[in-house]
Amino acid sequence: MSTPAPKGTGFITPSDGATYARIMGVGGYRPERVVMNSEIIEAIDSSDEWIQERSGIKSRRFAAKDESVVDMSEPATRDALVAAGLEASDVDAVIVATVTHPYQTPAAAPILADRLGIRGAAFDISAACAGYCHAVSLASDMVRGGSARHVLVVGVEKLSDFTDPTDRGSAFIFGDGAGAAIVGPSDTPAIGPTVWGSDGSQWKTISQRDSWVEVRDGDLGWPAIGMAGQSVFRWAVWGMAPVAQKALDAAGVRAEDLDAFIPHQANMRIIDAMIKQLKLPADIPVARDIAETANTSAASIPLATERMLREGEVAHGGLALQIGFGAGLVYAAQVVVLP
Ligand code: UT7
Repeated sequence: MSTPAPKGTGFITPSDGATYARIMGVGGYRPERVVMNSEIIEAIDSSDEWIQERSGIKSRRFAAKDESVVDMSEPATRDALVAAGLEASDVDAVIVATVTHPYQTPAAAPILADRLGIRGAAFDISAACAGYCHAVSLASDMVRGGSARHVLVVGVEKLSDFTDPTDRGSAFIFGDGAGAAIVGPSDTPAIGPTVWGSDGSQWKTISQRDSWVEVRDGDLGWPAIGMAGQSVFRWAVWGMAPVAQKALDAAGVRAEDLDAFIPHQANMRIIDAMIKQLKLPADIPVARDIAETANTSAASIPLATERMLREGEVAHGGLALQIGFGAGLVYAAQVVVLP
């Protein structure tokens, strides 16, 4: 503890962080139950062919009825800790990115922290499918700013609780799961500058159908998440490739220097359109976890990352461009060194 400055000097001890931050390890949890398109189609008068052609989705996982976002976050976190070579007691802050924790308050993060025996700062953020990239940015700044040394970042969703199985526009697209990452100090730059932003004028394009107050006051039924698919699709296809390019430029990395492209798993056609616009060379591995995991919102990027590393599709230490985008509308992108 430094000596207090004399009264009136306005001096406070500056915080003392690491020069750089990195992702030290990732982990993932996929619920046991595999739900094929055939199980979804009857209620929405659709077909396996249509869903695969329009979205690239073949199957998704649904959590058990009594399996919560905190339950899913726990095994994902334990895997990330092992990968990072750390104990839970090394973690001094927890950020959970989710839009499907079913309590207005308290947040999921302190409950998860307690399960793991962590007593550090713990809070949730709501940035939908861009939640993980937002949380990685915050965690990096926290490590570098000195407010935490090791930050647990979790992207987790139980979208099956917030999907209307009879809604043709969204019932086939969402899935459940959790992905976790540990962000800590680094000797070299390993999390590039974040390019992020929002367009709140389009907030209704992906949204809980009615507010909790409207649900209370009207006879409205469960307020599932609805989506104006085509509007979101156009915004993602035309708006997100330039954001991804800005993140590359900010990191001083060319598309051809990437070892992996890990976009939010929203729709296979959006992924393909972004590859084209970024002129990404065909030999660079691209996350396509959506085929078997569907769109798990905040969990999609860490789950896809964990899979690519586990299956050896990309090497540890490789450079990856990650970009999340979704409800808000909000987005965030950065280049990272893979753990
Ligand atoms: O994660 C957050 C961000 N979310 C996203 O990025 C999702 C963005 N949006 C999408 O991925 C796509 O808009 C969807 C996959 C949701 C839908 O694909 P689309 O190509 O935009 O379909 P559409 O709504 O334009 O519908 C095309 C046709 C229509 O028929 P007509 O009018 O052409 O005869 C629809 O009635 O497909 C019909 N259709 C369906 N048919 C079978 C719409 N939904 C279905 C369905 N099954 N579920």
